[in-house]
Amino acid sequence: MSTGSTPNTIADFEHACRQAMDPAMFEFLFGEHGNPNWSTYTSNRASFNAVKLRPRVLTGVADPHLSTSLLGRRLSFPVIVGPTGGLPGNAGELAQARAARTAGTVLVLSSVATTPAEEVAAAADGHWWQQVFLYRDRSVTEWQVRNAIELGAGAIVLTVSNTGDTDYRHKAVPVPYTGPDPEVTRRFVDALGAGALEFDPAVAWADVDWLRSLTQLPLVVKGIQTAEDAALCLEHGVDGVVVSNHGGRFAQGVRGTMEALPEIVEAISGRIDVSVDGGVRQGQDVLKALAIGAKTVWIGRAAYWGQAVDGEAGTERVLELLRSELRSMMALCGVGDVNSVDPALVTRESIPTLEG
Ligand SMILES: Cc1cc2nc3c(=O)[nH]c(=O)nc-3n(C[C@H](O)[C@H](O)[C@H](O)COP(=O)(O)O)c2cc1C
Repeated sequence: MSTGSTPNTIADFEHACRQAMDPAMFEFLFGEHGNPNWSTYTSNRASFNAVKLRPRVLTGVADPHLSTSLLGRRLSFPVIVGPTGGLPGNAGELAQARAARTAGTVLVLSSVATTPAEEVAAAADGHWWQQVFLYRDRSVTEWQVRNAIELGAGAIVLTVSNTGDTDYRHKAVPVPYTGPDPEVTRRFVDALGAGALEFDPAVAWADVDWLRSLTQLPLVVKGIQTAEDAALCLEHGVDGVVVSNHGGRFAQGVRGTMEALPEIVEAISGRIDVSVDGGVRQGQDVLKALAIGAKTVWIGRAAYWGQAVDGEAGTERVLELLRSELRSMMALCGVGDVNSVDPALVTRESIPTLEG
């Protein structure tokens, strides 16, 4: 895809991606903010908009400090490229891996990536983590974890926001996996043929224990939406949580993630790292999430749009936009360091209902 002019905002990337993509595919992948059928997506954006900044002035902040760490990994700024399956051409996950490495952050490789983990690991040069699902056939999940460990992934991320009955919108999950290793391809094709790559609706906390027992790598659970489940993560030896509703692609009518974040930060109470995703589109969103207690934000659509529009350069540009917008918002608000954002930087209004 080509844009013609340099996108100056993530909204520009969304627009360019929409113009270049089949409308039905765009709707399937991303939905529409404001569409009642995508109410959770709308709630995610509304929950960011409901948080307002309280800038401090005359603070002398000229060059804010952006670098931080998550799970022991140094990051040049608190934004992670989250997992999105089924990236189109433009070198797919390789483009995202290279851009994440250049930007000094990490790519979380989707369990249903279109590029083999072997190639992504080489391109990412250590800047990658592996996301997994609990498939009906647990041996597929286990194989993916073991493969990721062998390839040097820095963490395992278990996504739990699309368990349960996923018939609602996404019955067929395309997994066009074609790796160079015939054994890898065979496992996936066999699994797909047997329906094994269906998500298992019967997953439970015992499965987290099982996954925990497979690896010493940091284990992150992505898809936590309540204080109760955050507390269970602590009980089950999880090293980090991502407050996420899968970008609103599955359960509808749930809270925006910025509305859920405060109770989860409170339940975790600094014992492990909390991150958040869902609707991050500007540097101000990153700053708001940090003020409420997130260590990092993860991006889904924004990185996908960047990659789809202009491959590695597009993904890099998306990350640079977020970085420069975050820096300028920090300077404008008198915040000197991403690691010590005063909670008093934000107020929270009641969240408007846009569901119609
Ligand atoms: C097209 C698409 C594919 C996705 N695929 C995955 C996936 O394979 N694994 C996963 O854990 N999350 C997946 N997600 C969810 C994202 O990781 C992330 O939680 C969500 O997109 C964040 O919201 P945002 O898109 O508004 O930033 C996907 C999201 C989109 C839009």
